Amino acid sequence: MTSDAKPTAKIQLPEMELECPIVVGTENEKSIDIRALRAQSGYITLDDGYGNTGACESKITYIDGEKGILRYRGYSIEDLAEHSTFVETALLLIYGELPTKETLSGFRKLLTDHEMLHEGLHNMYDGFPAEGHPMAILSAMINACSCYHPDIMVMEDETTFMAAAARLMSKVRTIAAAAYKTSVGQPHIYPSPNLSYCRNFLHMMFSIPFREFDPDPDVVSALRLFLILHADHEQNCSTSTVRMVASSQANLFASCAAGVCALWGPLHGGANMAVIKMLHELNESQIDLVKFMEGVKRKEFRLMGFGHRVYKNYDPRARILKKAVDKVIRKANIHDPFLDIARKLEEVALEDPYFIERKLYPNVDFYSGILLRTLGIPLNMFTVMFAIGRMPGWIAHWKEVQESDSRIHRPRQVYTGYVQREYIPCEKRGIEWNVGS
Ligand code: CMC
Repeated sequence: MTSDAKPTAKIQLPEMELECPIVVGTENEKSIDIRALRAQSGYITLDDGYGNTGACESKITYIDGEKGILRYRGYSIEDLAEHSTFVETALLLIYGELPTKETLSGFRKLLTDHEMLHEGLHNMYDGFPAEGHPMAILSAMINACSCYHPDIMVMEDETTFMAAAARLMSKVRTIAAAAYKTSVGQPHIYPSPNLSYCRNFLHMMFSIPFREFDPDPDVVSALRLFLILHADHEQNCSTSTVRMVASSQANLFASCAAGVCALWGPLHGGANMAVIKMLHELNESQIDLVKFMEGVKRKEFRLMGFGHRVYKNYDPRARILKKAVDKVIRKANIHDPFLDIARKLEEVALEDPYFIERKLYPNVDFYSGILLRTLGIPLNMFTVMFAIGRMPGWIAHWKEVQESDSRIHRPRQVYTGYVQREYIPCEKRGIEWNVGS
């Protein structure tokens, strides 16, 4: 290799040796570009769970899981959490730069212009049972938006894309609040054009006709913080889903509705609900926490809100949320026994060799549920809150896919089923089996 030759990796296969380019990211993350592997050798790579697979190159979010670093477009999460607003952070994620005053106010105006739902969409809530899960409703309603606003599917330039992004970000909060109102049998509250993004959401959640909800500014600020901390997290399960759907050139709304479904699972966004359910059970049963942890270590159940595929250190979002929970709880002058249990669990876990060896630390969901509880958000809305926060990230990733020359995403597999067999007529089949057995 000459000094200016690009570095390569050699892959030694039984039949041949292959030279693959090495691609290095701006933060020195190294990868082997195997795009030509199958064409040249007939081999594919096998990586269940994609723990070693870079699905794309991306300029949006950087995580160093070993050091516990998270940055959006180069800005540290700590800086954004302290100084930014959710709308500003959204623009940063989507467009790559912190917005000017004019861009920010222009986007805020778009959010206001598009905050209402078509009345036909409001009527659709009557079709859902009151106990229907808000994540199912959220995903269905985001998709349904494209029936009522077919123009959102046309995004041929920056202006139409920006309008679609604003529509999605704005409407998702109206949809979520209306889902909650339906579940408690209250009338939907229309958005107020005079309120900030976060206050407007709280207004639609907690105002009732002729009784305006007037939240404490610290509550609004805690919601702002929650949304910023959830705004993006590179190639996680739901974002990868959004990118996968986007790669088929599906529209922004369809792609993000798919993201909501992926987020729902308890190993992903659903963990914020699972943590509170776990804390509730521990509080009810008053079980000794050390004993409970023995069950976790025997792998009878997981300690929800702990562990992460990428963070092998304290999740920086959990650190910020832990502080915010302390502040909000102190200000509200309340005592939440769930917080005591969470703190104790963390203390036990961080000193236990099982967790130390596996590098399991609190993740974003460990304290976020306690914060949401303090803000008065009901448990079944927790994952919806995560989805509202993640919307700018999904929009940014959708845009990045459209702007790249990436092909439709289509992983391969190593087939391990039967080799070719001959069809046997029913009366000649020997083995008895029942569907579902
Ligand atoms: N409690 C107990 N053991 C755990 C936990 C946990 N929460 N998480 C991982 N482990 C163990 C696991 O049993 C395995 O042990 P061993 O090496 O003996 O087989 C080892 O740690 C590695 O776990 P893994 O399942 O291979 O790790 P993963 O990267 O596939 O999973 C995770 C990551 C987040 C799904 C997992 O840590 C987990 O299930 N955590 C609880 C659910 C949770 O809090 N999810 C929220 C994730 S952060 C926000 C988000 O993504 O939405």
